[in-house]
Amino acid sequence: MAMIYNFDEAPVRRGTGCVKWDTPEAADALPMWVADMDFRVAKPITDALLQRVEHGVFGYTQVPDSYYEAVINWFGRRHGWEIHRDWILYTSGVVPALSVVVKALTHPGDKVLIQTPVYNCFFSSIRNNGCEILENPLVYEDSTYHIDFNDMERKAADPSTKLFILCNPHNPAGRVWTREEMARMNNICLRNGVKVVADEIHCELVLPGHKFTPFASVSEECQRNSITCNSPSKSFNTAGLQIANIISSNSDIRAKIDRAININEVCDVNPFGVVALIAAYNDSEEWITQLCDYLDGNYRALCDFFAEQLPQLPVTILEGTYLVWVNIESLGIDSDTLTERLLHEGKVMVNSGTMYGKEAGEGFIRINIACPRSQLMEALHRIKNVIAPAIPTSTE
Ligand SMILES: Cc1ncc(COP(=O)(O)O)c(C=O)c1O
Repeated sequence: MAMIYNFDEAPVRRGTGCVKWDTPEAADALPMWVADMDFRVAKPITDALLQRVEHGVFGYTQVPDSYYEAVINWFGRRHGWEIHRDWILYTSGVVPALSVVVKALTHPGDKVLIQTPVYNCFFSSIRNNGCEILENPLVYEDSTYHIDFNDMERKAADPSTKLFILCNPHNPAGRVWTREEMARMNNICLRNGVKVVADEIHCELVLPGHKFTPFASVSEECQRNSITCNSPSKSFNTAGLQIANIISSNSDIRAKIDRAININEVCDVNPFGVVALIAAYNDSEEWITQLCDYLDGNYRALCDFFAEQLPQLPVTILEGTYLVWVNIESLGIDSDTLTERLLHEGKVMVNSGTMYGKEAGEGFIRINIACPRSQLMEALHRIKNVIAPAIPTSTE
């Protein structure tokens, strides 16, 4: 019989050397910031890890055939994307993967396109490789985001633009991009000789009613023009085990990336990451299904709370990820100041929107809802206690 997971209960994490709970700023606050989940992982993952620990030797690790089979079977079965074994390169995380791809496919001074607001490490991966960031800001309308394709076309046409890093599903805009949108983005990139790097780390975190499509599976052109970076770590909550894959059907690109992996010294992985990936992809699908239902319940609870208690603050529609993007513009307080006040006055830690682009993220905060519902509700009450008195009263 399928196991029923109880996401209402979570292990105590404070005091376990955990970034989310043990960062000094969060010492006496509820942490609703960095993107990991407070839930215990799927039982098949813990069982597999325990078995590996029992062996008692943790030397340098090779990736076995069963690793590649797990990746290939998962994406074929669940997402209809046929991957060949030699397309897969492994490394120690998606951020190291992005950095490696930027290093491999650009020269210092080149431009890399991103759609802001977007995950903060996109900025650092580009800058750390001596490249320039080119923003194609997403357009916020009716509590959701869409792409400004004309602006994208103009920026892709800049001869210095070599790469576009796509975030699908998008952190923090909450979009799960459609096939049509991705085909259009790829056409623009292809016309202008720009390669697409698809960061698909959030790919299993999709709410009911939406469907994730791997960028590379949209068409043969998308496949040939793209490099995918993914990992089970975000969806299965194993970020500390540090493993990720870079997938490309183009052997020339793979050769360059392979070299960059070695130059950046991120070619070694740890035995637990390998074991966890195999157990996640082979045996933990039921956990993901139940998790997404639970996250959907959390998202609805948050939407109800804002609609009733803080209707002046629109909640961005969440199609994927567990990171909710709340519009605070009506308060007339900037995002960094509000985030500080929430931390010090409210004892709740969220991310300021400006982390994801100074201009594109101003006027927003990001709330991580991947925790038991009781914790989420407590956090929302704390947020309200700080925000409600700050809401400007009408002067009619
Ligand atoms: C879009 C995106 N990519 C990558 C990462 C981190 O990847 P890793 O921990 O594998 O380096 C995150 C973490 O939040 C993310 O949101």
